[in-house]
Amino acid sequence: MEKNIVLIGFMGTGKTAVGTRLAQRMGREFVDTDKEIERITGMTIRDIFYKSGETRFRSEESLVVKRLADKTGMVIATGGGAVINPENLKLLKINGILVCLEANPEDILRRVSKKKNTRPLLGKNVTVDDIRRMLQEREEYYRQADIHIDTSGLEPDEIVKRIMQKLNEEMYGPTKG
Ligand code: S3P
Repeated sequence: MEKNIVLIGFMGTGKTAVGTRLAQRMGREFVDTDKEIERITGMTIRDIFYKSGETRFRSEESLVVKRLADKTGMVIATGGGAVINPENLKLLKINGILVCLEANPEDILRRVSKKKNTRPLLGKNVTVDDIRRMLQEREEYYRQADIHIDTSGLEPDEIVKRIMQKLNEEMYGPTKG
């Protein structure tokens, strides 16, 4: 059985951009939970939050996770809050290797500021301190990943390279040199 590679981590850590490239490199199918939710509901993530609330979003997210977690051999990018639900985390771990993309709060702020207003949980006046606080709240969940990659200052292609290295080590042990 080929395990799924599941990208987790805070908003703005590059899960979608990295996941797309990683899937290409590994010749695997790529799926992004937020895109799936949008496809299934016919609404944008932003509209779901504003029209139906976060509870509805989280329940759509759990349904998508449940369905994807059953599959194998995929690259799955999750929304930053997906693994905050212990049931989602547990399901994704059964068939998946969890890779957490990490970045410092300053980098995250810089990245999310480029796409203003697309993330309902980060208002347009979000500060580094807000992000630091949310990272702290989520730390115990992100810590459960099998592999952690510090993405600070790295381009997606370099991040993909590092993930593939770590995946190889995970499967065949550390390389010499
Ligand atoms: C969220 C992250 C978003 C999206 C939603 C909630 C979160 O995805 O799922 O806005 O709770 O961290 P990205 O991590 O892809 O931005």
